[in-house]
Order: sequence, then structure tokens, then C-alpha cells
Amino acid sequence: MSRILKRRYLLLLPLVVLFSACATASSPLLPAGPAAKPISDLFWIIVGIAAFFFVVVYAGMWGALLKFRARPGDGEPRQVYSNIPLEIIWTVVPTIAIGVAVYFNIATTVQERPDLAGHDPSEAPAVRVQVYAHQWWWEFRYPDLGITTATELYVPVGRRVDFTMYSDNVIHSFGAPELTPGKTDVIPGQANATWLRADKVGTYNGYCYEFCGEEHAMMRFWIVAVPPQGFVTWVKDQQAKPKVSEQDWLAFSERWCPACHAIDGTEAKGLIGPSLSHVASRQHLAGGAFENTPEGLKRWLKDPQAIKHGNAMPSLDLTDAMIDRLVSFLATLK
Ligand code: CUA
Repeated sequence: MSRILKRRYLLLLPLVVLFSACATASSPLLPAGPAAKPISDLFWIIVGIAAFFFVVVYAGMWGALLKFRARPGDGEPRQVYSNIPLEIIWTVVPTIAIGVAVYFNIATTVQERPDLAGHDPSEAPAVRVQVYAHQWWWEFRYPDLGITTATELYVPVGRRVDFTMYSDNVIHSFGAPELTPGKTDVIPGQANATWLRADKVGTYNGYCYEFCGEEHAMMRFWIVAVPPQGFVTWVKDQQAKPKVSEQDWLAFSERWCPACHAIDGTEAKGLIGPSLSHVASRQHLAGGAFENTPEGLKRWLKDPQAIKHGNAMPSLDLTDAMIDRLVSFLATLK
């Protein structure tokens, strides 16, 4: 292989990397429910319109280029100035095409509005969730069920879930490409709403879509869609009051953890960090900064700022023995 050819193949490398990444990323073109589907439909409608005109215009252009190309012995071609019918056609046709695209755009936007969504007024939301955006993690409260959790959001398959979203800090944006109707800004002083219905069991990626500070990228969340019966079980587990022994409480309180974190049924009522009542039931912590493993937790407790710089949890100068005790205690909070 010549060197130039090799270099050409190297140029393709970023494309290969890009497309292999697509296999695991979530795409709004693979919708898993009726809230996300109209966006994918709209995309294909617009692509269809664009593809039609691409083919027509390019076929006409290449046809003309080939048919009327200069041949040896040709004189000067016939000179043409203005053609009224042609001018009208190429003004009216694109106007209609853009008009159709605008129509579908507006129709989709209206259809996606949470107050109109579901298309069936009898379909009341099965679950209501209050979303609180923090810097940088998502808190989820189920006001009807008395559940508070973070970073992972459980929903029953086939049921509509309504969200009301709040921020007391900066503007964030809430969205899960396969499930929500696009992204919805979460704005201080204003409660915005969105909705979803997951039609397939699975774990779906969610992101913050508005730059909200240093660790904006570590403000991920996961929507876990489970069968209705699995949801009932999850709710029961989350509602259960954790049992905290005397020694565990001492380990937990000696470095002021309760000032920022809450554990149901104890004196710990802090609201700055996520509720730890059932922290062991979550796979991802700190907005996805690390996985919930003993090693991950140990690293975090040793120096939270080294993992997620600028987050609200300070380094508490815990000894290794204290960290081990805390990690084994947190593992009991299922
Ligand atoms: Cu929150 Cu970006």
C-alpha cells in the first residue's frame, strides 16, 4: 500500500470511531415511547422532503450538464435572459416545501406539549415526579408515594409519567433521547413540565442539556423502565424505613454527614446532598461520576473533589478505617 493510500485510510479512522460510538449512545431516532416518537417521525419527514428535492435537483443538474456540454466545433450558445415561468416555479415550489416542513414542525411541537400530550384525555398520569436540578445531579421526588431518590428514576412500563421540574440554582435542561419529547429547560422560579411513557423494559440514558457549570457533563441520569409489578416492588422497597444501628449512626454522624444527607427514620435530614435512605439500590452515584461499588465509594469518600471537582461535598479527612465503616454501612441501605 502506498503511503498516500495509507494516509487516506487513517483519515477514515475518526469516522469509524464515531460510528462505533453510536452503537451504545442513545438516539432520538430509536424512540421507546409515544413522547419521543413524533420527533423521530418529524426527522424522517424532513429528511424525506430534502431527499426528494436533492434527487430532483441533482438529476436535472447532471442531465443538463451532460446533455448541453460543450462539444468541439460548437459556437457560442444561445443567450437566455430571464424566464418568467421558470422564475415562478422555483419561487413557489420551495415556498410550498418549506411551508410543509414548517407545518409538520409546529404540529409536532403542539402535539408534544405536556398539557395536550397522550392525545387521550382519559389517560391520566400513573406516576407524578418532581424533578429538582442541582449542581450537578438530579433529585427525583414522587410526591404521591413519599419517595425521594437521585440519579436513577424508576417508571412503570406502559404508563404515563408526568414531570414538574424545579431549579434553585442555574438553568439546566432535562431530557432522555429515547423517551422524552426532546429537552425541557429547568429554570429557577418557573416550574416547567414534561412527560414520557416507556413502552419497552430497559434502562435509558438521560442528560443535562444546558451548560450549568464545571461538572455539567457529570449530571447524567438513568430512567429504569420496569414492568408494573416490578415498579410496585421497587416502590415498597423505597418506602421501607431503613434500619440503622447505634454504631452505624455514630459512624455516619461523627463527620457531620447528616448535615447534608437525609436517611428516612433518623435524625439525618440534610437537603444539600442526595437522600441516602436507599443509596445501595442505585447503580450510579454523583450524577454518573462513579459506579456504586465499594471501590467507587471509597475513592469518593477519600476525596470527592478529585472525582467531581467543584461539587458540594468537601473532603472530610476521613481515615481509611472510617471510610471502610461508612462504606459497609451504606451498603446496608438497600
Ligand atoms: Cu445541569 Cu448541565
